Amino acid sequence: MKENFFLRNFSARAVLLFCLTGLLSVCNSSKKITGEENIPSLKEVFKNDFLIGTALNADQILQKDPKADALVQQQFNAITPENVMKCEVINPQWDVYNFDLADKFVEYGRQHHMQVIAHNLIWHSQVAPFVHKIKSADSLQQFMVNHITTIASRYDGKVKGWDVVNEALNEDGTMRKSTFQQLLGDDYVVKAFELAQKSSPHSELYYNDYNIEQPAKRAGCIALIKKIQAAGARIDAVGIQGHWLLGQIPLKDIEESIQQFSALGIKVMITELDIEVLPRNFQGADVNQRLQSNAQMNPYTTGLPDSVQQKLADDYGALFNLFLKYSDKIGRVTFWGVNDGQSWLNGWPIAGRTNYPLLFDRDFKPKPAFYKVIETKKN
Ligand code: XIL
Repeated sequence: MKENFFLRNFSARAVLLFCLTGLLSVCNSSKKITGEENIPSLKEVFKNDFLIGTALNADQILQKDPKADALVQQQFNAITPENVMKCEVINPQWDVYNFDLADKFVEYGRQHHMQVIAHNLIWHSQVAPFVHKIKSADSLQQFMVNHITTIASRYDGKVKGWDVVNEALNEDGTMRKSTFQQLLGDDYVVKAFELAQKSSPHSELYYNDYNIEQPAKRAGCIALIKKIQAAGARIDAVGIQGHWLLGQIPLKDIEESIQQFSALGIKVMITELDIEVLPRNFQGADVNQRLQSNAQMNPYTTGLPDSVQQKLADDYGALFNLFLKYSDKIGRVTFWGVNDGQSWLNGWPIAGRTNYPLLFDRDFKPKPAFYKVIETKKN
C-alpha cells in the first residue's frame, strides 16, 4: 500500500525518474570515457594474490585526463608517483619543500582506496641541483637528515611504503659511486633506512633496483639487505623494478631471486614493470645510459605488428604465471605507466620513439597482453 501510494505520488515519481536518468547517464558517461567498461579488472582478478599498481604522472594525479583516470580506477589498487616525489620536485632547494603535487597524489590514493607507494627518498638521479653542489660529508649528511625526516614524517602512515633507497648498486653487485656513496661511504644506505624508520614508523620501507634478479647484482643486493638488517634497521620488502626486454625475460633468474630475497624474511615486489619491444642492446634501466637515434631504432611508428604483439602477450603471460606461483611471497606488481603513449620508454634510452611496453594501448584499450595476463589466473 505504502509503495503504491509512493509511486502514485507525482513528486515521488519525478524524483525516481530523475535518479534513474542520473544513473543511466553515469553508466553512459563511464562508457564514453573508457569505452571499455566490460573488460575484466586486473585488481579484481588478482585481489587474492597481490596488489596491482601503476605509476602516475603529474597530469594523471591532477586528473586532467578523464580516460586515464577512469582506467586507473577500474584496473589498479596501488599507485606510485612517476616523478612528483623525487628530490628535484619535492625538495628543489636547501630547506625548500614543494609538497603540492605529492599531497595531491597521496589524497588521490586515499579518495580512491588505493595503496599509496612513495618513490623515492634517496636516489642518484633527479636530485635537485643544490645537492650536486654539496662538497662536504657533513653537509650531505645534513641534507639526508633534513630530506628524509621532513618528507617521510609528513606522509607517515598515509603511504603504505617508501622506496627508501633506489638503485644503489652496480651491475657487478658493488656499490654505485653516487654522490652519496662518494661522500658518505657505503653506510649511507643503512643511515637512510634508520632515518626513514624513525620518521615513518607506520609505513613500510623498501630497497628498489633494476636487474637485481641477475646473479651478480642479486648477490650484492642480498648482502646490502643483510647489512641493513644486521644494523637493526627495518626493511620490509625489496622491489625488483622489472624493466625487461621482449623475448629476453630472465624467468629463471627472477624465480631464484624471489626465493632468495624472501628467504631473508622480506616481501618481494615487482615495482616498475614494462617490456621493451624496440631495439635495445642492454638490459635494465640505467637512466644515464642513452643510445643514438636512427630510423632502424624506431621501427613501429605506425603500429605494432601482430607477431610482436603476440610475443609481448606471451612474455607477460609467462611473467604472471611465475608471479602467481609465488603469490605468497609477492606483495605487489606495479606497471610503470598507464598506457603505451604515456610510458617513459617513448623517451628513454632514445627520445621520440613509439613504444608499446604496457597492457593498454594509446587509446586505453586492452592489448592481447592484457587478456593473456587475465588468462593466467584462469589456468
Ligand atoms: C623515470 C620516469 O618514468 C621518467 O618520467 C623520468 O624522466 C626518469 O625517471 N627507475 C626508476 C624510476 O626508479 O624512477 C624511473 O622513472 C625509471 C627507472
